[in-house]
Amino acid sequence: MPSLQNNSQADDPVQQNHSALIWPELTRFPSFNPPLRLGVMASGQGSNFEALVESTRTGPLDGTIELLVVNNPQCGARKRAERLGIPCIVHDHRLHSNREALDQQLVNSFRQADVEAIVMAGWMRIVTPVLINAFKNRLINIHPSLLPSFRGVNAVEQAFNAGVTLAGCSVHLVVPEVDAGRILAQAAVPVLSSDDPVSLRARIQVQEHRLLPLAVAVGARDWRRH
Ligand code: GRF
Repeated sequence: MPSLQNNSQADDPVQQNHSALIWPELTRFPSFNPPLRLGVMASGQGSNFEALVESTRTGPLDGTIELLVVNNPQCGARKRAERLGIPCIVHDHRLHSNREALDQQLVNSFRQADVEAIVMAGWMRIVTPVLINAFKNRLINIHPSLLPSFRGVNAVEQAFNAGVTLAGCSVHLVVPEVDAGRILAQAAVPVLSSDDPVSLRARIQVQEHRLLPLAVAVGARDWRRH
């Protein structure tokens, strides 16, 4: 009997990328009138931030990234913003007495930039109702697991150590409970027998870059309707 899958293909990371499942499916991205005005928050390398910028510049996301806020002056996201010509503000969390004070600065900056929604693209701080309520149902986070599994830090390692055969990433609305708001979209990524947490994370990130613009469009369809 012929085997259903050729093993060398099953273990080829590129083939496996193609077999990742993203849901919901958007056959056509919506257009928005006026186009979306978005802000982004990042703490790290900023690859999701850049993917989002590209999706607004070359499609398919109908909008613009008006402002990036980072909490770490040295982070890669800030350098990407400079290269991409996106305004960037540093709000260093170490210079604020508490989380609420930092979040109020974020609210002020994003209001001044006149953004309608904010994407937390690798923001490594817990946010408070000061920010959540100011952008109710318009504050979006990306998390590297299939929620509600593996909330919190080291999600990829948690999934890997649990021995799941499907890992992935989720984009969800932000509520005070960490990684718990309504899920907008998810991507399932197979765990390969050859994987370690580093290789698994890399393949999840490829899908994050596809998922994030789609999930923003899904969220925006809702908030523009109301
Ligand atoms: C992503 O894996 C995201 O899921 C998590 O932080 C990471 C940020 O990566 N919240 P990058 O800075 O966008 O490259």
